[in-house]
Amino acid sequence: MQMLLNADDYRSSAQKFLPRGLFDYIDRGTEDEVALRRLRASLDEITLTPSVLTGHDRRSFETTLLGRRLAAPIVVAPTALAGLVAHDGETKLARAASRVGIPVCISTQSVTTVEAIRRGAPDATLWFQLYVWRDRTLTKRLLDRARACGCETLVVTADTPVSPNREYNKRNGFGIPFVPSLRSTCDIALHPRWFVNVLARYLLSEGMPTYGHFPDEFRTAITRPSIAEAVRLDHRLNWDDIGWLREIWPGKLIVKGVLAAGDAETATELGCDAIVISAHGGRNLDCLPAPAECIRAIADAVKGRLTVLADSGVRRGTDVLKYLALGAEAVLLGRLPLWGLAAGGETGAEAVLRMVVGEMDAAMAFLGAERVSELRSPSFRATRRAGPE
Ligand SMILES: Cc1cc2nc3c(=O)[nH]c(=O)nc-3n(C[C@H](O)[C@H](O)[C@H](O)COP(=O)(O)O)c2cc1C
Repeated sequence: MQMLLNADDYRSSAQKFLPRGLFDYIDRGTEDEVALRRLRASLDEITLTPSVLTGHDRRSFETTLLGRRLAAPIVVAPTALAGLVAHDGETKLARAASRVGIPVCISTQSVTTVEAIRRGAPDATLWFQLYVWRDRTLTKRLLDRARACGCETLVVTADTPVSPNREYNKRNGFGIPFVPSLRSTCDIALHPRWFVNVLARYLLSEGMPTYGHFPDEFRTAITRPSIAEAVRLDHRLNWDDIGWLREIWPGKLIVKGVLAAGDAETATELGCDAIVISAHGGRNLDCLPAPAECIRAIADAVKGRLTVLADSGVRRGTDVLKYLALGAEAVLLGRLPLWGLAAGGETGAEAVLRMVVGEMDAAMAFLGAERVSELRSPSFRATRRAGPE
């Protein structure tokens, strides 16, 4: 039995369980994976300086985020097709997050619908991530469904105008639509535990997995070739659409994928409640700056008018603390909970989240800090290798 002590352990365990096509889809970046390396480097080069002898014996991560109390300033990020990592994976993630006391953001491209996730995780704090479809009437209907399921927070993804160039997916024969090939069939055959525990369970119940939120008339198995025009991502998404969403969405509104202070300013002017400073986990554009390089300037520009969240590249609790110290109020985790889900289902996802909080707790003790807000005080000031900012 492998000891799962850190993110790398969970990742290795996930690698054994998942077919290679699916593992690579989750794990890797885009094109030459420069952004992925930059994310790691940008976090590694930050140091946090402790205050010694502060005499605290207990830390608290309780945070109020967008008017809600959270046990810790972390959120499970929206990840498409999490339902392929484990059977009913999205519901399992929601229950794991709920037990840890944090929100989970459901992707537009989940396998399981928000209604079924709500039924399976009645106490979870659900956020909903929106990829705006070309057909706005259908998009609005989707939002009504999310709202009816108690999603108070809408996360609109702004950084994905086109499909990213992920060459490994093509080589692995992994894509939506999923077209079975000799290679992908062998891949699945070599991962019988995944086949039996995930795919076969779908096939024996509801059939081949689908994008659960597609309206019935467009809902096709992920093996079918055509995605209807109406539910394709709108390449021409612009700030007027954010204005429209602000009008029709009564809850909290977050724009995800902001990296420039000017865009954060526009989001503020349009009445958004928050932004996620994100490089989409290094999965979209390979020449993006890392969030760690942008947070301070953006947080300074919108100070007090907009809640600043961040994500991308978190593999340790200290990575979360670094984003918080730079000015984020909470941090989203994408791949980490998926590794936990693959390694141990719902229990594994919960264990990963608790592991991150445990690492944060130990690091806070070393730093001499009692509360997350202290991390932003000058005595703990995060320093990038280039010199103090
Ligand atoms: C497998 C996978 C699927 C994702 N799908 C979505 C998605 O549907 N919508 C979205 O806004 N972001 C999506 N993301 C990006 C995450 O929300 C998040 O920004 C990113 O994973 C953070 O980086 P990390 O994985 O290093 O924590 C996805 C990420 C992964 C790994």
